[in-house]
Amino acid sequence: SAGLQNAAVKAGKLYFGTATDNPMQTDQAYVALLSNTSEFGSITPGNSMKWDATEPTRGTFTFTNGDTLVNLGVKNKQLVRGHTLVWHNQLPGWLENGQWTAAELTKIIQDHTTTVVKHWAGKLYAWDVVNEPFEEDGTYRDSIFYKVLKTEYIAIALRAARAADPKVKLYDYNIDGLGSKSTGMYNLVKNLKAQGAPIDGVGIQAHLISGSVPSSIQANIQQFADLGVDVAITELDIRMTLPATAAKLAQQKTDYQNVIKACKNVKACVGVTIWDITDKYSWIPSVFPGQGAALPWDENLKKKPAYDGIVAGFA
Ligand code: G3I
Repeated sequence: SAGLQNAAVKAGKLYFGTATDNPMQTDQAYVALLSNTSEFGSITPGNSMKWDATEPTRGTFTFTNGDTLVNLGVKNKQLVRGHTLVWHNQLPGWLENGQWTAAELTKIIQDHTTTVVKHWAGKLYAWDVVNEPFEEDGTYRDSIFYKVLKTEYIAIALRAARAADPKVKLYDYNIDGLGSKSTGMYNLVKNLKAQGAPIDGVGIQAHLISGSVPSSIQANIQQFADLGVDVAITELDIRMTLPATAAKLAQQKTDYQNVIKACKNVKACVGVTIWDITDKYSWIPSVFPGQGAALPWDENLKKKPAYDGIVAGFA
């Protein structure tokens, strides 16, 4: 039977999934597609589980928007990926602007992680525990967490998450192909494993540019697989300069096919998530003016050539 989830399962993968968000849950055609389990076996809330959304005031938690999406996924029997616990963006002001000692910030990370993970314990497949810890050059990003705790914050968050939901898979990410950043991540994962910190998976973020998709994605996935962790492609989209032409859409189809094939070819790559379904709701045009058309469905929810590229990649 047709559909991207079915294609992924035939290729031995657990899921093909998508990010989604609360504002578009009133778009009925969109929700019907999102809920089509031949296409999507997993969903990831794009914003509603982030720190500013869940703990806007210290110790006061709001789960309503996250609940809406988790309940939808559970109702549809889709795996839900939690995104994200400790990240340098979308932090509440109280946290970002505070002057914290190491002990205070450790407690803040532990309280946040414990409360949020416990709230959805048993309902999620995985959590992106730490997101984007590295700069492009492979050095650690100088976030509030790193400033105060150096690399310690990563194991602190992973351990708190494991204690709060012993079954959920814990991910850490943001890499695409081989290079300085993936080397940084490789050394981190090796180190976490050596100290017995609970890391189960690594995410290949994959916000890519059509025509410039790294050829080393498969080799990168493989090197993490060899460390004994799962790998997932967690935020795939492949943008182009607008307007989209037939030639650009054909290039994008090839690009999608190659990325999917890289996951297909490595057993430890468990699944792929696109960063929303349709160009109508993609984050790209607002952040990269003049670029877009990054997703497999167009603004009218019509399948683009990229869709067939994904199917071909799994075949
Ligand atoms: O919630 C407010 C709303 O109240 C307000 O009216 C509106 C006006 O602009 O803004 C809304 O907030 C926006 C939020 O998305 C929710 O829609 C923010 O401005 C906007 O910046 C935010 O963008 C998100 C971005 O992360 C922020 O960092 C994108 O939707 C989300 O897709 C994107 O996702 C990230 C991943 O989490 C991590 N990896 C990179 C990826 C792309 O940036």
